[in-house]
Amino acid sequence: MRKGLTLGLTVLLSAATLLAQPRGTTLVVDDKAEGIPIQPTMYGIFLEDINFAADGGLYAEKICNRSFEYDNPLQGWKTFGKVEVLSEGGPFDRNPHYVRLRYPGHPARQCGLENGGWLGIGLEAGAEYRLSFWARTAGKPRTVGLLAALCDPYGSAENQVLGAEEVTVTSSKWTKYEVVLKADRTAPKGAFRLLLWDESQEAVVDLEHVSLFPADTFHEDENGLRKDLAQALADLHPGILRFPGGCIVEGTSLDNRYQWKNTVGPVENRPININRWNYGTFERMFPDYYQSGGLGFYEYFRLAEEIGAEPVPIVSCGMACQFQNDPEWHPNCSLEDLGTYIQDALDLIEFANGSPKSKWGKVRAEMGHPEPFGLKYLGIGNEQWGAEFIERFEPFMKAVRAKYPDIQIVGTSGPYLGGEWFDDLWKEMRRLGVDLVDEHYYSWEGFYEKNANRYDSYPRTGPKVFAGEYACHGSDGKKFNHFNAALLEASFMTGLERNADVVVMSSYAPTFAHVDGWQWRPDLIWFDNLRVMRSCSYYVQQLYAANKGSRVIPLTIDGKPVADVRNLNATCAVDDATGDLIVKIANLSPYSQVVIFDLPGGLTGAERTALHSDNPMDENTLDEPSRVVPVTEQLDLAPVADPDNEWLLGVRHQENGRIAYSERLGGRTFAVYRFHTK
Ligand code: AHR
Repeated sequence: MRKGLTLGLTVLLSAATLLAQPRGTTLVVDDKAEGIPIQPTMYGIFLEDINFAADGGLYAEKICNRSFEYDNPLQGWKTFGKVEVLSEGGPFDRNPHYVRLRYPGHPARQCGLENGGWLGIGLEAGAEYRLSFWARTAGKPRTVGLLAALCDPYGSAENQVLGAEEVTVTSSKWTKYEVVLKADRTAPKGAFRLLLWDESQEAVVDLEHVSLFPADTFHEDENGLRKDLAQALADLHPGILRFPGGCIVEGTSLDNRYQWKNTVGPVENRPININRWNYGTFERMFPDYYQSGGLGFYEYFRLAEEIGAEPVPIVSCGMACQFQNDPEWHPNCSLEDLGTYIQDALDLIEFANGSPKSKWGKVRAEMGHPEPFGLKYLGIGNEQWGAEFIERFEPFMKAVRAKYPDIQIVGTSGPYLGGEWFDDLWKEMRRLGVDLVDEHYYSWEGFYEKNANRYDSYPRTGPKVFAGEYACHGSDGKKFNHFNAALLEASFMTGLERNADVVVMSSYAPTFAHVDGWQWRPDLIWFDNLRVMRSCSYYVQQLYAANKGSRVIPLTIDGKPVADVRNLNATCAVDDATGDLIVKIANLSPYSQVVIFDLPGGLTGAERTALHSDNPMDENTLDEPSRVVPVTEQLDLAPVADPDNEWLLGVRHQENGRIAYSERLGGRTFAVYRFHTK
């Protein structure tokens, strides 16, 4: 048959198959294509201690300034009676301060301490709390009585006490004491009190590292994580867990950069660090926001392991935050001193992967994890730029490559989504041959609406992209987690997946925010002292990760990728384990439209999970956490009753053995379809 004739027949045939289709947009799923592998690391989590994400949030410790080491050693504490701060003779050399309590001078007075956590201590009726502290008697009496109490100091009930226990300090040597306290009612902003409870007027007691954890932590770890918040992370099915940031990596100045070595070993002896998000801004200041180091690098690697994510640590490259420092102040480490920073990074890899006989592998093993964590990635620097960065980055990277050639290096494209710094950095990253480049784009709606094709034109060789920090920020003051922002993120993310040969990792940022203590928004997960709320953006991330698939295959409208076609952005993946074809599609139009999926025949079932709100400004709240949530429906794959009736939606069998499944996709809707082929 002549070529022209074949073509003519094909056109006629497809026209025939389409004749009875409803009026709509046909998306053709090319299930025969080999496709592009989607990396297991594709959708992940960014975890930085901003917005009380760790201390005061995920890290389940309830006591603020438990070691009395803040610049003001009693910050976070209210004291009454005779309380002194001492620093000689404490049990922990790197945290020298402790407090001394003594008889207050009158039997009807009290001496003690009160701690209200960072933003109040959330206490729940019936829940148990593990109190521990180190103490010694310091006066004549050999034993000294104490009373520990969970309280509701701002409640109007007759009795502020929710639960109390007596503890007797029995030694003049520093000893750890532990007791379980039970709350008889709920107090969202409760407090903890520790009182000298002794009849002797000569009773003197020293106290250090006063710590209070819920008994029920994530995976029951003693130095554990808040269960509801950690579960929210696990439910994201993350491929990676980036930590510790963010700007926290860099520090306001080099001395408060993140130093991982200060966050391992016994928690009592981990030095604190002033949080970079503490009082840097006048508008939302939190002067008692320090990093305890309690959720440190061991806990981070454990968390990553527990939730099935690859750890992606980011280390300081010897430069403090460039936004906050003029180079003329010399805020960066000199090139001669860079070795210390490089060694820290090499030691971190040894801590993660080294044998228990190695120096840092031993520390890990002694903490309870003799098996290596299997670290594969290392990010060097966060939002850096300029010649001063490259002259530090290059030797840094070479040293890591020389010792650990298998570790994949994450470089950076700086703080912006494009422009001169971005272009220069990409050029340098290519020249240096990094494995991945970290891109950040906190941008407004217009960017997310129009850039699902951002990676279509990226080079297919060279470093891969780690979309390491991004979120749609509403313009005109709409900087909260409204549905429209989530929809636009979902739409944009079709382009990440379609370009899975370029983009191999991504993480929305930031992840957590305490409703009373945020410095940055929008954020993925909001919480207060007792409750958690998953934002609309959270559900988008979760839908992507839970429906990631193994390979992305072509999905086309009129032979072209579905990038900004009739207000639609879409992608299709195959899950090799189940055989499912997974279409993710965002309809950005306010109006519904008929979509027709051209699919292989023989489907055994299908469902659609949709995220939608009639009001684009809708958001979930702690009081109404389920206002906008994904809704799953089974699809009816029975053939339509009258295939010639173009008004009927549903399944039509095509002459070529394929099927066309049509339905009306709601306006402003993100939907994930799973078509089962097995
Ligand atoms: O995610 C909040 C901040 O945004 C990060 O710390 C920083 O990397 C970026 O500027």
